[in-house]
This record gives sequence, structure tokens and C-alpha cells, in this order.
Amino acid sequence: MTDRYAVIGNPVDHSLSPRIHTVFATRTREDIEYGRLEAPRGDFTGVARHFFAHGGRGLNVTLPFKLDAWRWVDSHDDAATESGAVNTIVVEGSVKRGCNTDGIGLLRDLLDNLGWDLDGARTLVLGAGGAAQGIVESLKRAGVVDLTIANRTRTKAETLAARFGVAGAGLDDVGGGWDVVLNATAAGLSGIGGLVAPSVVSGSRCYDMLYALDGATPFCRWAADQGAREVSDGLGMLIEQAAEAFLLWRDVRPDTGGVAKMLRSGA
Ligand code: ATR
Repeated sequence: MTDRYAVIGNPVDHSLSPRIHTVFATRTREDIEYGRLEAPRGDFTGVARHFFAHGGRGLNVTLPFKLDAWRWVDSHDDAATESGAVNTIVVEGSVKRGCNTDGIGLLRDLLDNLGWDLDGARTLVLGAGGAAQGIVESLKRAGVVDLTIANRTRTKAETLAARFGVAGAGLDDVGGGWDVVLNATAAGLSGIGGLVAPSVVSGSRCYDMLYALDGATPFCRWAADQGAREVSDGLGMLIEQAAEAFLLWRDVRPDTGGVAKMLRSGA
């Protein structure tokens, strides 16, 4: 019988995850079906419980439910424990296991796809919400230095920074000289432009955890205009975290080569 998986979020109608997992299923010849589940804000639990009660085998969890999912599952893998957020749920018998593949997905994109050197890289994370929370430990493990979390609401940056033993700051306190700057804010359409000084990104490699099919997110465009050394949106991270989730569910890691290009070309 075909095993059922889905991405749960709100909104979820534009999620690329079904397309990505369908490509993976074809490439690995795994018999799965992958859909979208929109849960009302405030009722993650009811929708997730219903999905698993009716034979669902696994979920990807996206905004705004990564913390709800962390609270709901029966157990956590190390990455979920470290980050306090769950983006993948795996069924093991009657147990729902909460996992987090965002950190490893980001590292695979930065290190393997983009070839950015993180060992010894002075690194700045913009934002202190769930997206930032999911990646800080992985960045530390990759050997970044002077890791700083900067946020519009400074106290949130300080709280998150203290939890991970790194530095916290307000957006307007940070200076330049970063090797890598990651946008983990939700400042999508309005962009981060104007909220940090241009010197924060000029000469740096800038990565936006948000994505746009043409690659030109507002943050990427703004950073490029300020003279960033290189910019990338987060489509590669989305694909790599999906591949890691697929591995957890099916015990086979799909080849991700060419998937970003396929999605960007609308194929
Ligand atoms: P997520 O789980 O995706 O990180 P979140 O918890 O709502 O979402 O956090 C959103 C992050 O984006 C926060 O760091 C938020 O800053 P505040 O803590 O000050 O709210 C940041 N953010 C959202 N909109 C922003 C904007 N227009 N400018 C700057 N930061 C913004």
C-alpha cells in the first residue's frame, strides 16, 4: 500500500515540499504519496492526530507549528532536542518521534552545494525566532566563530544567544566584517533593507533562509546591492532538509542534484 506523508503548516498552499518529495520518490522508486495539510493556527494537535490516526506515516512541519510539534511528539532526536523545534515527525510503532533536519539541511547547502567555508567564519544570524533557533547549534558544530544573533527585539536575541552560549545584539548594534550573514527573520516582502547598516553585508557571503524561485528574495537583492561577496536564497536548504527527512522516513537518501534547477525552471 502507498504510504502517506504530508507537510503541515499555515499557510501551506504554496509549499514546494510535495513537488520535492514526489521527485525524490521517483528517483528512489519509493511508493509514497505526499500532500499538504493546512491546520488552523492553534490546532496543530487536532490535525496531526487525525492524520496519523488515519494511516499517515510522517509529517514535515513548517511555520508556525515547529514549536507546537516539539511539544506534541513523544520523543525527540538530538537535533530536535538541541534546537527545541521539530520539522519532521517519524512514526515508530505507536511512538511519534520529533526530528529536526533544518540545521543539517542548511549545512549541506552551504558546505556541499555552495562550497562556503564555515570553519573559522565570522558568522551573523539575523532574527531570533524559530528559524534561527533551528540552525544555531549546527553552525557552532561547523566551526563558525564570533557567532552573533541580532534581532529587532534585542531581548529575544539575548535570550536565545544565552541559551546557545553565543553573542546577542539588536539589529542596529551590529557592525561589519562578517564572513557569513544569514537572514533568519520573517521580514519577507518588506525585506531587511534599512534595518541593518549596509556595512553589515558588504563583502560578506549572505544567505537568506527564505527563498524565491528566481533566487532574488528582498534580502538577497538588498545584500547584492550593498556589495555582498556572494548571495544565495534558501531553496537549496529546503531541498536538503527534505532529503534528510526522506532518509529518516524511508532509509534512503535521495539524490538532490538538479532539483533546485528543476524547480526554478518551473518543471
Ligand atoms: P520564525 O519561527 O520563522 O523565526 P518568528 O518566531 O515569528 O518566526 O520570528 C520571526 C523573526 O523575524 C523574529 O526574529 C522577528 O523579529 P522580532 O523578534 O523583533 O519580532 C523577525 N522579523 C519579522 N519581521 C521583521 C521585520 N519586518 N524586520 C525585522 N525583523 C523582523
